[in-house]
Amino acid sequence: MNRPHSPRAAHARHHLHRPPATRPLPVGLRPQRWQRWAVHASTLALTLTGIAWLLAHHLLRSTGTFGEELPSPIEPWALRLHGMLAQVFLLVLGSMSAVHIVFGWRLKRSLWSGGGLVALSGVLLTSGLALYYAPEHWHAGASLLHWGTGLGLLPLVWVHVLAARRSRPQPPRVSAD
Ligand code: HEM
Ligand code: HEM
Repeated sequence: MNRPHSPRAAHARHHLHRPPATRPLPVGLRPQRWQRWAVHASTLALTLTGIAWLLAHHLLRSTGTFGEELPSPIEPWALRLHGMLAQVFLLVLGSMSAVHIVFGWRLKRSLWSGGGLVALSGVLLTSGLALYYAPEHWHAGASLLHWGTGLGLLPLVWVHVLAARRSRPQPPRVSAD
């Protein structure tokens, strides 16, 4: 039996009454260092190659041997790089799914920005697949949806990281007296 004044009971009481902000978070909730780097690097690179394609597609042209207008050579290269980076990003996302996303979801911490990231990645993945495989007349719509939402990915990662850092438990303050 747990007596009300035993050290065990006092320990349990202490835990129960600790405010949520000072409770330790489960080990593994914070993505590992390589994962944090990989998230920042892959989302930045995806955004840069996406923007490079947009600029090249809408603003740049090269001239062919007979003086005809051709797409800039930057355009296909940006898209190739972008497609490769998309695969890397999906691997990183998969590595976060088993622990980080499940724990974060259960604890309901940084839920809006975290859930938003999962939803946005879903939209990008689906519209990206549509760009590859859907009928030709879907292309313009899928493209607009894809890059329109894609531009929001990097800012949302930053919002999520800031929200997550703010919600992290602070060590209890020790008063001077
Ligand atoms: C989960 C993340 C993402 C995935 C899985 C993804 C996937 C893809 C795929 C598969 C394509 C088609 C490539 C091809 O036709 O060879 C594509 C094109 C494109 N993506 Fe992404 N992408 C992602 C994020 C982004 C972001 C963050 C941007 C930011 C601007 C972006 C902008 C573009 C643009 C402008 C195109 C070209 C559209 C077109 O061909 O009409 N994507 N993406
Ligand atoms: C429902 C989904 C998600 C929830 C509830 C969630 C929740 C959290 C929480 C609570 C933290 C803080 C961990 C700590 O303080 O140690 C965090 C950090 C982080 N999350 Fe998520 N997350 C979700 C999805 C994602 C996704 C999809 C990504 C990336 C694609 C991501 C990237 C990160 C990163 C990079 C950090 C580290 C921030 C730092 O530098 O301290 N999260 N998330």
